Amino acid sequence: MYHKWPVRKPRPYHKRHDPTIPLLTGQRVIDTFFPIAKGGTGSIPGAFGTGKTVTLHQIAKWADSQVVVYIGCGERGNEMTEVLIEFPHLKDPRSGKPLMDRTVLVANTSNMPVAAREASIYTGVTIAEYYRDMGKDVVLVADSTSRWAEALREMSGRLEEMPAEEGYPSYLASRLAEFYERAGRVRALGSPDRDGSVTLIGAVSPSGGDFTEPVTTHTMRFIKTFWALDAKLAYSRHYPSINWMNSYSGYLADIAKWWSKNINEDWLSLRSEAYSILQREDTLKEIVRLLGPEALPDEEKLILEVARMIKIGMLQQNSFDDVDTYCSPEKQYKLLKLLVGFYKKGQQALKEDVSLSDIRKLDIVTRLLKARMDIKDDEMPKLDQLESDMQDQFKSITGVKVSN
Ligand SMILES: Nc1ncnc2c1ncn2[C@@H]1O[C@H](COP(=O)(O)OP(=O)(O)O)[C@@H](O)[C@H]1O
Ligand SMILES: [Mg+2]
Repeated sequence: MYHKWPVRKPRPYHKRHDPTIPLLTGQRVIDTFFPIAKGGTGSIPGAFGTGKTVTLHQIAKWADSQVVVYIGCGERGNEMTEVLIEFPHLKDPRSGKPLMDRTVLVANTSNMPVAAREASIYTGVTIAEYYRDMGKDVVLVADSTSRWAEALREMSGRLEEMPAEEGYPSYLASRLAEFYERAGRVRALGSPDRDGSVTLIGAVSPSGGDFTEPVTTHTMRFIKTFWALDAKLAYSRHYPSINWMNSYSGYLADIAKWWSKNINEDWLSLRSEAYSILQREDTLKEIVRLLGPEALPDEEKLILEVARMIKIGMLQQNSFDDVDTYCSPEKQYKLLKLLVGFYKKGQQALKEDVSLSDIRKLDIVTRLLKARMDIKDDEMPKLDQLESDMQDQFKSITGVKVSN
């Protein structure tokens, strides 16, 4: 089992595959709105306390990979202790064995030497490649790459190199690029044929949440999924505080095929419809701020109402709730379908002169908001029941049949 490899050098492979398979994390705002592919790259920047560590822990617990490499890089030691204490008690949902069995921890917490901090990132990614070459899907999460960059800065200073932006060495960008370059889904060398992947996800901790600082801006050039954490959302207890207007995923088109084949053909269009409701709410919010909600016609008030429902019933997810902590792709799809369905039925009802307040009063509204907590992954028929109840309730206020 003994193996030697210079950690700064990427391990070779036979060929690279396209990133067409999603890495399912069970987190709705990630999987449905800003997905990452197996072998992809992602970054999660956010100010202190916005939820970087919790989100990375969620990915380490629930992502459908066979191996997880968790690099604690320059953050507090007790977060590492938490992983050590918690993971052996948690079961891997797929194998039924303790989560710790598939997790590799690389610890370099804030009280350890900075020189070793740089090495921890390379060691982690080399371990990830080692398992990739065995044909495993590996997820590497690094918390936080900013501390790594700070270690580079500190050492570069001691070597009396010329500092560039904000004192970081001029090779900061190329180091980040080299790191994220090592992600990928590949055919390994040798026989028999083995496909494995390394997905790289790095937290970034810009001080004061300022995304224009060098580590965040350079990272953005090399990653394809960007989960922008938002202090305002975190303060209002909207968790995960991933801002849906500032985040993006470059894998959407690539992995849409997987969703349409495995879950439902209309996944991408459904996701776009839901997202456009959120986008329209964002512009309407401006008007509401200036003129108050009464200035809007009912059709637009309905958008605000449905956007609120999408935020509470879909985007928010409590990591500490037994049911809500993980959401299967099937359940994500059905929740989204119900919410978009509610919007369409609401539009139709408004056309038939039903008032918005009558729509708001329907008891299906609160049931939709609570479905994420109330209905377990193995209780899908309950979501179908919700759909037919919704149909009936809209029928009862319009008096005539509301079509799908
Ligand atoms: N998905 C979530 N569900 C519930 N609470 C969360 C969630 N994400 C973050 N939190 C809350 O926010 C706090 C700070 O999160 P943390 O990940 O430690 O922030 P950071 O690593 O960005 O400094 C957590 O202790 C937790 O109470
Ligand atoms: Mg943290």
